[in-house]
Amino acid sequence: MISAEENKQLMEVGPGTLMGELMRRYWMPLAAQAELDDNPMKTVRLMGEDLVLYKDKSGTYGLVDLHCPHRRANLSYGILEECGIRCNYHGWKFDETGACIEQPFEEVAYPDAHFKEKISIKAYKIEPKAGILWAYMGPDPAPLVPDYDFLNERGYKQIIYTDVPCNWFQCQENSIDPVHVEWLHGRWSKVLDPDTRGPEPRAHAKVGFSEFDWGLQYHRVFEGGTEDEEQWTIGRVCLWPNALFTGFFEWRVPVDDENTLSFAWFNNAVPGDEPFEQERIPYWRSPLVDEKTGRWINTHIMNQDFIAWVGQGALAERTQEHLGGSDGGIIMMRRRMLEEARIVADGGEPKAIIRDPEKNHNLYLPRQGRKRVTSSDQAPTGGAFGQEPDGRAPRNRHLSGQPQEILDEMDKIWKERGATAVTR
Ligand code: FES
Ligand SMILES: [Fe+2]
Repeated sequence: MISAEENKQLMEVGPGTLMGELMRRYWMPLAAQAELDDNPMKTVRLMGEDLVLYKDKSGTYGLVDLHCPHRRANLSYGILEECGIRCNYHGWKFDETGACIEQPFEEVAYPDAHFKEKISIKAYKIEPKAGILWAYMGPDPAPLVPDYDFLNERGYKQIIYTDVPCNWFQCQENSIDPVHVEWLHGRWSKVLDPDTRGPEPRAHAKVGFSEFDWGLQYHRVFEGGTEDEEQWTIGRVCLWPNALFTGFFEWRVPVDDENTLSFAWFNNAVPGDEPFEQERIPYWRSPLVDEKTGRWINTHIMNQDFIAWVGQGALAERTQEHLGGSDGGIIMMRRRMLEEARIVADGGEPKAIIRDPEKNHNLYLPRQGRKRVTSSDQAPTGGAFGQEPDGRAPRNRHLSGQPQEILDEMDKIWKERGATAVTR
């Protein structure tokens, strides 16, 4: 059983904490690139640190302390200039490396003091990739942003944020928990709505867990199934250190010890074989609570996950658990995370750090149904991929609140590219 000390260690993300230092070795998805195009400044909180994410007039991204090092004004009300961000209080200006590059009064009145050379602001690296702005808060040199194969696939992409009020680690434990899929999503959905599409959920007969270069995997055999099925041979990917990959990504980004940003990146295969370029990857924020009832939304798959995670408490009390045979992956993940965190504490390099650009190309992620989502042979799944039976683009069944303008854009693309109604 896990000790109270280990439980605390697994959840703390602040600077100087065991897991906080491990997590600072990895790039974290922080915002949609399109969001900064709409509004070039955003206050963010990441691993317990309050920061401002910005895009300056020359298009350079920066991530700096929310507070100006002069007298602590809020830099998210600052002025974006050609190169950097200027505090609106007394005009000190900083670039994306954190250097103080202007101090208007000091430079005029005391030019020989060179005061600005003694001043810097906390600054972290930002890199765009796949429509995502990735942040790195660790020591130099920064590793590479992983180039997972799925990020490069043709399709209609979208980014969905949800603010989840609990610790990130219990969210990530869900990524290595096969049996919850049968119950939380399968059986509970049928209880909530007996007309829910799809066959009766299959019962799990056997589960297994393994590790590969980019994370862990879970494997399952359903009652009446065999080990020849992809559910066993491929399973699902618990992507190191904080995501689930099942044919789309769900990152669980630590905001602070008691809050997580669920950052989902979907890629729906577009009908046909012609090239498809998406100029802008849209983003939206999914609501947690049904405004009419005040209760948590339970109609969508990830919303059901959020209910389970937050239900464990803001900080899960793992010393009170009773783990069973289904929890082998949970035990494995906790152990591996603590092992890797100790490697970092001892000055070493943890798992899944990529530094060689030659090797950082289309990193293979095991995925069930790979053929279905990469060819024009679209299955009418009505799920995350393919199309609706009536030929419309697939509706997002994972997160509630998909904006109509995104559905309209997708429907238009699907129609133009020849998606047609299918008979079931
Ligand atoms: S507080 Fe920012 S310049 Fe004075
Ligand atoms: Fe789930």
